[in-house]
Amino acid sequence: MCGIVGYVGGKQAQQVVVDGLARLEYRGYDSAGLALVVDGKLATAKKAGKLVNLRKALEEEPPPASTIGLGHTRWATHGVPNDPNAHPHVDCGGRVAVIHNGIIENFAALKADLLEGGHVFGSDTDTEVVAHLLEDEVGAGRDLPEAMRRVCRRLEGAYTLVAVDAQDPDVVVGARRNSPLVVGRGDGENFLASDVAAFIEHTRDAIELGQDQVVELRRDGVTVTDYEGRPAEVHEYHVDWDVSAAEKGGYDYFMLKEIAEQPRAVADTLLGRIGSDGRLHLDEMRITDQQLREIDKIIIIACGTSYHAGLIAKYAIEHWAGLPCEVEVASEFRYRDPILTRSTLVIAISQSGESMDTLMAVRHAREQKARVLCICNVNGSTMPRECDGVLYTHAGPEVGVAATKTFLTQLVAVYLIALYIAQVRGTKWGDEVFAMVQLLATMPEKVEKVLETMEPVRELARSLAGERSVLFLGRHVGFPVALEGALKLKELAYMHAEGFAAGELKHGPIALIEEGLPVIVVVPPRAREVLHDKIVSNIQEIRARGARTIVIAEEGDDTVVPYSDTLIEVPAVPTLLQPLVATVPLQVFSCELATAKGHDVDQPRNLAKSVTVE
Ligand code: F6R
Repeated sequence: MCGIVGYVGGKQAQQVVVDGLARLEYRGYDSAGLALVVDGKLATAKKAGKLVNLRKALEEEPPPASTIGLGHTRWATHGVPNDPNAHPHVDCGGRVAVIHNGIIENFAALKADLLEGGHVFGSDTDTEVVAHLLEDEVGAGRDLPEAMRRVCRRLEGAYTLVAVDAQDPDVVVGARRNSPLVVGRGDGENFLASDVAAFIEHTRDAIELGQDQVVELRRDGVTVTDYEGRPAEVHEYHVDWDVSAAEKGGYDYFMLKEIAEQPRAVADTLLGRIGSDGRLHLDEMRITDQQLREIDKIIIIACGTSYHAGLIAKYAIEHWAGLPCEVEVASEFRYRDPILTRSTLVIAISQSGESMDTLMAVRHAREQKARVLCICNVNGSTMPRECDGVLYTHAGPEVGVAATKTFLTQLVAVYLIALYIAQVRGTKWGDEVFAMVQLLATMPEKVEKVLETMEPVRELARSLAGERSVLFLGRHVGFPVALEGALKLKELAYMHAEGFAAGELKHGPIALIEEGLPVIVVVPPRAREVLHDKIVSNIQEIRARGARTIVIAEEGDDTVVPYSDTLIEVPAVPTLLQPLVATVPLQVFSCELATAKGHDVDQPRNLAKSVTVE
């Protein structure tokens, strides 16, 4: 949520910053702006709308050359997305420019003081107070790093801040509390960004900043302190993917590329975790086998698509690991009184590792002394640092705002965890667990097979582009798949879409069924006879009421043929693993339907990839 770039070095800062913003636009696209330091002055440009508007403005009025600058792409919180509210924000004297990701919770009180002190504001944002506070500090003779430390001590909320001072052409200063900020270390140049993607084409050496740290970026070095100015410990790492992973590679949209990458992502997430003896090896998780033996309950917290992965995890954990498991949307978790003990394992699922709702739930769980394990796709993000353990998914960078390959890899991670707990605790499912691990290893080819047969799904999607509403039904793990299908369609096609547990239909939602309404039904494998037969009855019930039935079922399932207006076949896999193959057609369906309606599937309206506000 909001993308931030800072640069100091020998290259043209405008180019480095704008190229970096292009890779961060998935974080927000309400407006974009930049500031450069030029001969003791600031040159700024900012425009409402996508980055393309800023690029156009820069072409029409190119700013002078500069080798130091910062840039921002915004997801609006305070103040509508117009030019004045776009970042950077500059103080009255035009000396300090600042960009921000997050929310300054005490901005109203700070603004009142500043107004009383004679400051004049040009925007409705919370961010602008920081520009004026920094102005007072540098005006009193302090250098920018010290000014930033003093200002941060007065701020409440979540923020990443990056600032430059027109009178100091050698330093970019950043500060971090709760929102992400990483340093890229180059040769004679250094970078700051919300995500390594912004500087990956220049360097893959990164430094992860901790909470409440201030970083001073110069051409020849990087200094990190806490808010009091004491040297701070940082974690340096090497990014293991390259620039091609952050590019579209011939696809029209990142989302299409990311859907196509799923077999690889699933394989990479399994890699090195299944031993030649068929046993799982997850020592990297930082939670010991002894600790896993002590668990008596699991609580999963997550948001959105990750929450749907959590719902599927519940079925897997209860079945294989034999432990009670609750799943909760992270934004609700800490506002009730969850019963947590040292023997509760909380699993936070977050591809970004930054969702503020999940992060706050993690902190709450840790305060209650529960052990917290996270499933995360982003090395260097906040949650893996703050949790007791982490299991990384290896989906590679996901740029499309709608989660696709990270979802499938989250499923792999939850299966691995459930099976590993079963292995460690020696539950009654021993043989089944062993067989399931072998089957998991075959899932990349099964996902590949689904992708090879998607043309009819794309055709179907195009034919439904004029519909107002689509319903999704499922039972067992097919229910969260239905929820995920509906979420994808809502966020990409801006259509009414709802997912239901098929058994719930008769308790109310069946009233929605009318002539021609498309209803997508996820049918469990025939091996789960009871479930399977019940859903076949449900399909007949809705068809009798006029629904147009689109049925996703395993290949060779003839029983559904008479009741399917459209049949989408997926490879036969055990019920618990079916979400890995059944979700893919739903992703393709939403993506195609949304593009048929002319929508930008990589940047759906009002959304951002990483939601760093509560
Ligand atoms: C939907 C989507 C969101 C995220 C949610 C949680 O396609 O991507 O619903 O799943 O915002 O994000 P993470 O997993 O980063 O915590």
